[in-house]
This record gives sequence, C-alpha cells and structure tokens, in this order.
Amino acid sequence: MSNNISNQQMLDTMQGYIERVKEIIPTLYDHTPLACINTYGCQQNVSDSERIKGILEAMGYALTDDYREADFVLFNTCAVRGHAEDRVFGNIGRTKQLKKDKGGVLVAVCGCMAQQEIICDKVKKSYPYVDMLFGTHHIQNIPEYIYRRLTGSGRIFDISTDFNEVVEGLPIHRDGKIKGWLPIMHGCDNFCTYCIVPYVRGREKSRKPDDVLAEAKSMIDAGFKEIMLLGQNVNSYGKGLDEEINFAELLRRINAIEGDFRIRFMTSHPKDCTVELLEAVRDCEKVERHLHLPFQSGSDRILKAMNRRYDSEGYLNLIKKAKELIPGVTFTSDIIVGFPGETYDDFKETLRVVKEVGFQALFTFIYSPRNGTPAANMDDPVSREEKGVWFSELLAVQEEISKKNYEAYVGTTHRVLCEESVGEGRLSGKTSASVDIEFEGDESLIGRFLEVRVDKFTNLLEGTIV
Ligand code: SAH
Ligand code: SF4
Ligand code: F3S
Repeated sequence: MSNNISNQQMLDTMQGYIERVKEIIPTLYDHTPLACINTYGCQQNVSDSERIKGILEAMGYALTDDYREADFVLFNTCAVRGHAEDRVFGNIGRTKQLKKDKGGVLVAVCGCMAQQEIICDKVKKSYPYVDMLFGTHHIQNIPEYIYRRLTGSGRIFDISTDFNEVVEGLPIHRDGKIKGWLPIMHGCDNFCTYCIVPYVRGREKSRKPDDVLAEAKSMIDAGFKEIMLLGQNVNSYGKGLDEEINFAELLRRINAIEGDFRIRFMTSHPKDCTVELLEAVRDCEKVERHLHLPFQSGSDRILKAMNRRYDSEGYLNLIKKAKELIPGVTFTSDIIVGFPGETYDDFKETLRVVKEVGFQALFTFIYSPRNGTPAANMDDPVSREEKGVWFSELLAVQEEISKKNYEAYVGTTHRVLCEESVGEGRLSGKTSASVDIEFEGDESLIGRFLEVRVDKFTNLLEGTIV
C-alpha cells in the first residue's frame, strides 16, 4: 500500500473485505466464530489490540479468553526484551494441537516481534501452523488477510514498512469502561542504543490534535473517567504536524473538555520534559500529579553510551523543578541494570539518583541484548549473575524508599478514582498522584471519584471512605 492512498480509501478497502468475510463466515462455521487475542508488551500494544478486536467484531467474530475454543487465535507480540519473545513462542506452540483437534482455526502473529525479519523467517520455517504474520503497520489489513486465507490463499507474511501513516477511524472494542487508552502518537525517533522500538514501530508520527480531541470526547461521553495518553515519548508530541502544537498545549485542550475525568500520560522522555509542560500539569486540574520519567541509568558515561541525551545532573534538576512547580507530585521511572560496559561504580550512580529522587515505584530491567541495536555489538564483560546481584541491591534500596513514601500517606485524605473490586467487599483506586489505595465499599462505587482517608500501610495502603 503506498502513502498516497487516503485514509478514507483505506477504510473503504477494509470495509469491503469486512463485508466479504461476513458473507463467507456462515458457509464455513456452524456457530459464531470466536477470536482469542493474546497481547504482550506495553500499553501501545494493548491499545492496538483493542482496535484489532473492534475489526474482528465488525466481521462477525465474538471474543473469548480461552484459546482452546477459538477459531481465530492472534498473538500481538512485544520485542523489547528477550524474555518477552521466549514466552510468545511457547504460547504459539500450543496452537499446533488446537489446529489438529479442530478444523477452521486460523493462527496469526503480529506486533513488534513479528516486525523483525529474523522472526518472520523463523515463523515461516519452523511454525508451519501459523497462517499469517504481519507487522505493526498493517492492522487495517486484517480483514483482507483473513479473507484471503479463508478462501484458499497460501500463508501470509507481510512486514513491509512502506506504509507508515497513522490510520484514523478503525473500529474499536475497548477492554474497560472506566480507564481507557488514547494513543496520541506512534513510533519513536530516539534510537536509544539498547532499544528495538524505533526499528519495529517506525518513525515517530503524531495524530492530529482534532482526532485526539474527538476520541477523548467520545470516551468521556461513553462514561470513561480516566484517559491515558500514550506515546513512546509524549513530550515530543506535535513534531511534523501542519498545525503548530506541543504536548503542553494538547494537555490544556483535553483538560478543557467538560466532564469529571482524569488525564494521565506516558512515557515522558526527560530530554523533552520542559518547564512549559510542568506548568501545564500544574495548571490543568484534571491532569494527574504524577510523572513517569525513565532515567535508565545514573552514570553519565552510561547515559551517553545509551544515547539518552541528558545527564544525571540535568535529570535531578528536572525533578527539583517539577517538585517546586507541582505540589504533591510523585515520580516513577524505568531503570536498566547491566548495560554493556557498566561497572559497579556506574551502578552506584544509579543508586545515588534513586535515593535522591525518592520514587514512588520503579520498573527495573536487566539489560537484554536486542538484535540490530548498537548496544548488542558493545563489549559486555559483566556476567548475568553479577548483574543479578546488582539488580537485587537496587530492589532492596527502592523497597525501603517506597515503604517510607507510603508510610507518609497515613492520615492524609485523597480524591480517589475507584477502579475495581479486589474481592471480599474491598475496592481499589488511585489518587491523582497515581498511588493505589484499598478500602471497603460496595461495587456500585466503581467508576466514581471518592474521598478516601489512609488509615495504615501494611504492604499496601488501606483506607476508609470519608
Ligand atoms: N519509550 C519509553 C520506554 C519504552 S520501553 C522511554 O523511553 O522511556 C520500556 C522500558 O523497557 C525502557 O524504559 C527500558 O527501561 C526498558 N528496555 C528497553 N529496551 C531494553 C533492553 N534492551 N533491555 C532491558 N530493558 C530495556
Ligand atoms: Fe526506546 Fe528510547 Fe524510544 Fe523509549 S525513547 S522507545 S527507550 S528508543
Ligand atoms: Fe514491546 Fe513494542 Fe511496546 S516492543 S514495549 S510492545 S512498542
């Protein structure tokens, strides 16, 4: 598909295939065909899967969580670390028996892992029961792939990247009713040296502000209470759009939509986190008081090798500024332990930053070499075992910090969005600083904003509705 095909033409083509699949389904199945969508990786993938589910429903499929009863099994995969890939192959393997046991089953693999040529070749050769594999730019082609495969085509492999536009107007089946994902951009241009995402997701592309606002409004009209704005680096939103707009301005516009709802966003790259953005967070009452600001490493030497384009001092200044401007703000972060060439002294710098900031929580990873990234070719003399020891040390340090942070909440009262039941008459929700609290209450309160006082910290915060 070439770039000069308009969005509308593409939707029309998709609709044409949706109609054709709908026509042949009754000739192939004596029941409503069921689709099982398995999603790995980040919220971007979760959000893509919601669109995939929408498309499948439009063709007449119903959804199931049990792959054993499915007629269409899809794996929307993640490539960010080796561990994620291993899990997927194990699960794909289980569909072999399913296809033996019953006819008419289609197996599909898509997402970030599928986008890599080496994976595409592996599936082609070693997983003959996979019917179709397609990359991250082809969700809108699913009806065509299914139609072709159901009408006798050979196996389908499509990881072409010549089409890299944001597709608007796809059907969507949202998983939740209270919290919803809203992608504001796709792809990434940062090329951190360890990271596969720019290779599998393509160049950064922002959605038009009007499209984002329209989707936000439709979610609020549908009763959603929390909108999570998604992008690999939301802080660089707006680059390349006709209209001049940045992320701070987008936040202000979404904040201005009428209604009682909350806005969250991730991920923020520290290098693009401006004072203007911090001021927007301060000024917009619907935007949560929480920043997910991955710093990856506290060692300037390692940050440079990672191509992160900030240093530890710049990061700590940013945190200081945010604390000054946004009272009560909390921080979370991502950290990689054991980047190639990292020494224990470098790692101690990471610990220093962790202690100085006082994060609410951390997402910590041991470095995983990714084929095709620059870091995969760097010398990596430290053993996995030693990295594991450093990793445990980091967890222990953070556990103490989290505990102190949580204990400081005891006795305070917060506006909490009640998200779910955790069983036994107990509910759980989040404060505007993204802190979880559990409390007693009736399930009818789910989806409401409540005032909750924190009574104690056990291994979680427990409170009472006031
Ligand atoms: N765009 C986001 C991160 C997306 S990936 C950002 O820049 O902050 C989520 C996290 O996975 C990263 O922040 C990083 O900590 C981790 N990660 C990415 N590649 C990795 C690798 N090769 N090995 C280990 N962790 C990795
Ligand atoms: Fe990966 Fe860096 Fe892009 Fe995040 S900003 S997705 S870590 S390349
Ligand atoms: Fe994984 Fe792709 Fe997200 S690699 S982390 S699913 S963008």
